[in-house]
Amino acid sequence: MSDPASGEAGTPGEADSNTDSSADASADASADASADANTLADAQAKIFACDDVDALKAVEREFVGKQGVVAQLLASISKLPPEQRRGVGQQANALKQGVQEAVQNRQQTLAEARVAADRQGEGFDASLPPPRPRRGSLHPLTQVTRELEDLFQSMGYTVLDGPEIETDYYNFEALNIHADHPARDSHDTFFCEGDGHLVMRTHTSPVQIRALETLKPPLRVVVPGKVFRHESTDASHDHTFHQMEGLVVDRDISVAHLVGAMKTLLRGIFDRDLEVRLRPGYFPFVEPGFELDARCPFCQEGCRVCKRTRWIELLPCGLVHPNVLRAGGLDPDEWGGFAFGLGLSRLVMLRHNIDDVRHLLGGDVRFLEQF
Ligand code: DAH
Repeated sequence: MSDPASGEAGTPGEADSNTDSSADASADASADASADANTLADAQAKIFACDDVDALKAVEREFVGKQGVVAQLLASISKLPPEQRRGVGQQANALKQGVQEAVQNRQQTLAEARVAADRQGEGFDASLPPPRPRRGSLHPLTQVTRELEDLFQSMGYTVLDGPEIETDYYNFEALNIHADHPARDSHDTFFCEGDGHLVMRTHTSPVQIRALETLKPPLRVVVPGKVFRHESTDASHDHTFHQMEGLVVDRDISVAHLVGAMKTLLRGIFDRDLEVRLRPGYFPFVEPGFELDARCPFCQEGCRVCKRTRWIELLPCGLVHPNVLRAGGLDPDEWGGFAFGLGLSRLVMLRHNIDDVRHLLGGDVRFLEQF
């Protein structure tokens, strides 16, 4: 990089002789003070002659280092008659500033020259693409949400959105969870200030009612979104997490339709057919209600993920309760439906083997960079 001559300005001999001369000069501080302008010019010439960073550092040290010319000049002030002190102090500072400026300028020139030299050298390949700016990535929750939206849209579902602050009516009442219903306890609700009429939605199910109110049956919708629960957090609980609600309303809907749709969903998520089973589950807005389990996609004979049962609990679901259809303005004798509540956060954890749900919304870039 540096040519052989580059070290000359900083050769020890030269630096030494200069330090010596400045040491001599500082023995007679007043003489040195008068020679100050010359000293700066001398320093600038030396700096300008430096052809590499090491040489430049040596000259810098010689003038503004701990034992350098400026330091010696300042140290000599106390020995001077009072009327000279101020002037010598100012000159020392001017010298210091002048040297620092010259060093900085030289540094920049050398850096630019080095880049130019590199470009001419053999290591530089002008045909290589320039370094790209670092790109971020989609949050794993966003990735799963988008995949599932695509999957459901391919099956004719509409993707809906709903408010994260809900009324008591949509979050509970219209979903057949009346005041004093014990199911309200398990929802660990955040109530908004005021009369308790507004809540942070505890699930995405309220959008079922909003969908029934605004869309004409037959209908198929999915609703991805954030939900909130007032509970103490641990590896499997967070106060904020993500769900995807599903609702299908049509004539003559049976559990077979529900199971068929869930198997298609599983194929989309795990890329293969998985056996499923239904266990009874209680949710006031479906009847009958189920917990749907799928064969563990990660093992043949039991593992940590399925807790050695070979089944993973995947999602609660059921046939829409007649009271919910009524709340949505439909006649339950004419219309039926199924609904499901997919835990998106849990799904992301399963997919990427994440052991603590709090990582998902923790905002730690080291975690997010992995996806
Ligand atoms: N909303 C329920 C919850 O968060 C989950 C759920 C259960 C949704 C059954 C449904 C369903 O659509 O049919 O606890």
